[in-house]
Amino acid sequence: MNITVVGTGYVGLVTGACFANAGNKVTCLDSDSQKIESLNRGEAPFFEPGLSELMTRSIEAERLQFTDNPATAYEQANVIFICVGTPTDDGGKCDLSQIKSVACDISTYIHQCNDTPLIVVKSTVPVGTTQSVASTIEGNFSIANNPEFLREGNALDDFMRPDRVVCGVEDEHAQEVLQQLYAPFVGQGRPLLFFDIQSSEMVKYASNAMLACKISFINEIASLCERNGADIDHVRTGMCADSRIGNQFFNPGIGYGGSCFPKDTLAVMEMGEDTNAPCLVNTAVHELNQRQRVWFAKRILDHFENNLTGKKIAMWGLAFKPRTDDVRDAPSIDIAKTLLDAGAEVIGFDPEAWETFQSEVPDVTIAMDMYAALDQADAVVICTEWAEFSAPDFSRVLSLLRAPVIFDGRNMYPCSEMEKLGFNYYSVGRPTVKICPSLLINT
Ligand code: UGA
Repeated sequence: MNITVVGTGYVGLVTGACFANAGNKVTCLDSDSQKIESLNRGEAPFFEPGLSELMTRSIEAERLQFTDNPATAYEQANVIFICVGTPTDDGGKCDLSQIKSVACDISTYIHQCNDTPLIVVKSTVPVGTTQSVASTIEGNFSIANNPEFLREGNALDDFMRPDRVVCGVEDEHAQEVLQQLYAPFVGQGRPLLFFDIQSSEMVKYASNAMLACKISFINEIASLCERNGADIDHVRTGMCADSRIGNQFFNPGIGYGGSCFPKDTLAVMEMGEDTNAPCLVNTAVHELNQRQRVWFAKRILDHFENNLTGKKIAMWGLAFKPRTDDVRDAPSIDIAKTLLDAGAEVIGFDPEAWETFQSEVPDVTIAMDMYAALDQADAVVICTEWAEFSAPDFSRVLSLLRAPVIFDGRNMYPCSEMEKLGFNYYSVGRPTVKICPSLLINT
């Protein structure tokens, strides 16, 4: 099939590369002409494991190309996937301007497509948007909604081996085309589900909202554990043994970030307001998540009695989660800014997200090695659970730090081991390990 993918952000690139890999002829359209050249060389503009390799293979096999020319992009298209961004605007609303502009372009070029092209809205959009897009396009076409469930860092696997594929359709042609397109990726317990368009749009928001809710819920329980002498590890284990609760997206920490959960929770709240059905749970989920990073930064300030002048703080992990260079809405940004405002010198290290982070918080010095960040630091703060931080050489850590203090925002180490090693160890929802102040070196 000839597929046009509009938008070469995260969703567009992964979608284009995976459909091309399955044998389709894919043209990706983006108005950013500067990007096109490097994309045609197989260079992804962000870090996603395996993506550049997959793009290169399909470009070489002439199944994947990138263009900024809509006339080329829509020529002979059977299917058009709209994958442009739907960011939150200044007023907290979902900004649909990019979607509207693509709809306008499609009306102009639809005569170049194959007969009755299928237009699929893959961008995350408030309920009703897919149909309102359809109402602005002139010509003969079918419309569908097809939300994505791709996790950054795991996107290729999520696309090729999805838990499910959800489609919202309103005619048989749309259903047949999507069945054919997704056939290589579904089956064997991976369902391809067809609903009406509004329900499909809602599945996306409701799924992200539910996952965000689990995270804020366990963070709230972690906070109760700390105040009441319980240990979240035990509480979580006890809860997760109930198969109705499950153990995924239930890790306490400094809260969720990224381009999806924060934005989508706000969008659900907005939908509630617009339809006079206030979303109380989602509002609390959002507030709890904001509170979590503020609380963690305060914990660091409290340790230093609110005076960080002359203190050097190392930060391990800057990305909003491991296996990505994305720092959008990352807790690390707010925490670093709080520490800088309090007078600290902050030295950050991240295996991938150093450039993206530095453009957000230029005052943080970036170390090129996780141990170099620790040199003469008064504490290390862990914001992202990268695998390389899971079993560091603790004797090296101890010898580099000016004081053996760890603030672990992702509960990476057992408290008992930290106690044995002699760290002053703060984590989330677990008893703080405090060593005798006289043992703190050089403080
Ligand atoms: C999320 C969803 O998982 C995808 O299914 C969805 O398609 C995507 O949003 C989207 O809407 O495009 P993503 O934002 O890449 O994917 O990242 P996640 O792996 O879901 O993590 C989100 C945040 O939750 C991260 O900051 C992570 O650190 C945090 N998290 C996750 C926790 O704090 N605790 C957990 O137990 C799990």
